[in-house]
Amino acid sequence: MNKAKRQAVIAGNWKMNKTAAEAAELINELIPEVSGADCGVVICTPFTDLPVAVSKTAGTNIKVGAQNVHFEKSGAFTGEISADMLTELGVEYVVIGHSERRQYFGETDVTVNKRVTAALAAGLKVILCVGESKTEREQGITAELVALQTKIALIGVSEADLANVIIAYEPVWAIGTGLTATAEQAEDVCKGIREVIASLYSNSAAEALTIQYGGSMNAKNADELLAMPNIDGGLIGGASLKAPDFGAIVKAASK
Ligand code: 13P
Repeated sequence: MNKAKRQAVIAGNWKMNKTAAEAAELINELIPEVSGADCGVVICTPFTDLPVAVSKTAGTNIKVGAQNVHFEKSGAFTGEISADMLTELGVEYVVIGHSERRQYFGETDVTVNKRVTAALAAGLKVILCVGESKTEREQGITAELVALQTKIALIGVSEADLANVIIAYEPVWAIGTGLTATAEQAEDVCKGIREVIASLYSNSAAEALTIQYGGSMNAKNADELLAMPNIDGGLIGGASLKAPDFGAIVKAASK
């Protein structure tokens, strides 16, 4: 499968960090760091930062994403945000199924699937997160579990819509822990995801799919991870909050 056929995408997941004023400052620092990028660059900010992120990044190569979206179009869903609310703001991407949402907010494979189809129907690009916990890895069920997460998340997604999906493999045990999957471990699972996509859709759909690695990815380990044939980018947490570090990862993906 030919890596050159796919777009590398580096996305920052800011999680619950940065007020709108702080977001404006960080974006000012990020713009020069990533301006020469030969890869897609996305920042996924808290909802309250989205207006400032969209206006500050206008005319730059930085795209803006949210970190969650509700699956209903509108209604009595206190505290939720719809896909149309995001697109009207100029938001282009949304992270769906992050392990923190699965762990702390009751997200399941079924609700992930509902969010994915609603987001795609509204014209958003989806960064779909999958990954195993430490116990699941120790049980030897990583490949099966990630395949199942991927298959359920994509129920009802057409091959045409798959072009607007990025899959991010994020081993839960590597998130925010400083423990990175080895390049070989990450490659193994990303290759497995591509095989699942080939079986669900087609070889060409699998070949075109951007697959990111996420979990303590940083300026130091990015080169090795991104050199793997099935790792096309990164979903970056902690290191996305420091402009020089995020810039270095973007440069590694631009080589
Ligand atoms: P860290 O890069 O902080 O480990 O977070 C990864 C992540 O969860 C990105 O979505």
